[in-house]
Amino acid sequence: MLKKVYIETYGCQMNVADSEVVVSILSDHGFEHTSSIEDAGLILINTCSIRENAEQRIWGRLRAIGHFKRKNGDLVIGLIGCMAERLKEQVIEKEHLVDLVAGPDSYRELPLLVAEAHEGHKAVNVLLSREETYADISPVRMDSNGVSSFVSIMRGCNNMCAYCVVPYVRGAERSRDPGSVLNEIRILKEKGYREVTLLGQNVDSYLWKEDGRATGFPELLEKAAMIDPIMRIRFSTSHPKDISDDLLYTIARHGNICRHIHLPAQSGSSRILKLMNREYTREWYMERVSAIKRIIPGCAISTDMIAGFCTETEEDHKESLSLMEWAGFDFAYMFKYSERPGTKAARRYRDDVEDEVKTRRLNEIIALQNRMSARSKKLDIGQVYEVLVEGRSKRSAEFLSGRNSQNKVVVFPGNGQKPGEYVNVMIERCTSATLIGTIFVH
Ligand code: SAH
Ligand code: SF4
Ligand code: F3S
Repeated sequence: MLKKVYIETYGCQMNVADSEVVVSILSDHGFEHTSSIEDAGLILINTCSIRENAEQRIWGRLRAIGHFKRKNGDLVIGLIGCMAERLKEQVIEKEHLVDLVAGPDSYRELPLLVAEAHEGHKAVNVLLSREETYADISPVRMDSNGVSSFVSIMRGCNNMCAYCVVPYVRGAERSRDPGSVLNEIRILKEKGYREVTLLGQNVDSYLWKEDGRATGFPELLEKAAMIDPIMRIRFSTSHPKDISDDLLYTIARHGNICRHIHLPAQSGSSRILKLMNREYTREWYMERVSAIKRIIPGCAISTDMIAGFCTETEEDHKESLSLMEWAGFDFAYMFKYSERPGTKAARRYRDDVEDEVKTRRLNEIIALQNRMSARSKKLDIGQVYEVLVEGRSKRSAEFLSGRNSQNKVVVFPGNGQKPGEYVNVMIERCTSATLIGTIFVH
């Protein structure tokens, strides 16, 4: 019973990539992955701590799966990932919902921890590491469309943005050996994958030193792009303080590096950015956006915004709106500030923006972004884009779905194309989330 592992993943793309590493490690120790929770002898929940509601959701889920435990006394339930790291053994003590707790750097210990938990011992490992990158582990791709995949290039973060829990739960920044990154991409290509997304909390600070030589992110990206023009390369996340012209010129030189940069602004007010410890100003951010537009024409830009950070005034909020309007983002993730215990903001500032005000500001940000996203899609009508087919469209069986280089979802009536093929599509109309077109023949 114990030998089947079911894993559920919350949070960011890093956690998706980590779950693939976890299943790989367990597979080497006699476990088999199952996508059915009922069949599992080991249930792992890979968790996120980024906002309070992310953790609330996971507590809810743990309570909901409690009945599996009552049915099967042998079942081991484990909490892994960022929330496991943040709460440590408290997770086991609170409500007795889990048997095992493993932080993001202790996944190699999982087979041992599972055995301990199975014998009824408290199995906890939340040690963070300065070296662990799981470079030698070949991730097991689950729930994959067989076309696009994540490749983790670094772990941790050294940035200490005042609101952010990531440096505490993921530890210090460390880069992964470029040889192992490039090798993983080659293997994916051989398996038929056509797109990889290189992952790190701040990819621009990627740095690998060996034999007196340093490899930075632009060089790694270029080498990845040169493996085969048939492979699309994406990456996330760029930090506005570190994104260099060198990187932008590298993207411009290679058609298979996607025309999309995720560049989280967080706020449009220089005063708030300073409090957030983001190490750039509104003007610096605007200059970086201008550089992207100048060096990589047609590049989509997306962002993250936080509404209602400590001391944010109506004036600061208006500056966020005006920055968004000026940049004309194609897409955005937008959040209400959520205080995280232990962060600089929690220790030093008061979470003093009323919840109602945060909600109203967030709604204004969302409404503005909806207008901008619609405008960005309208401008695509009449354009021809190369689309990498990922599968059938959810809405209609005759339609195929994929994305263009700018990361916009495109659906079109298929003509026998298979996932992994590239098709030129002329955009004819759009909905709020999707571009709709037909195959373009010269
Ligand atoms: N490393 C990435 C982002 C990681 S977290 C970067 O620096 O951009 C993803 C997003 O969650 C952040 O960009 C931020 O917008 C949001 N976020 C992080 N902490 C938050 C908090 N305490 N409250 C609300 N949003 C938060
Ligand atoms: Fe968090 Fe800032 Fe690091 Fe991103 S760069 S993970 S927001 S501390
Ligand atoms: Fe969440 Fe951890 Fe990612 S806190 S956003 S899963 S790095």
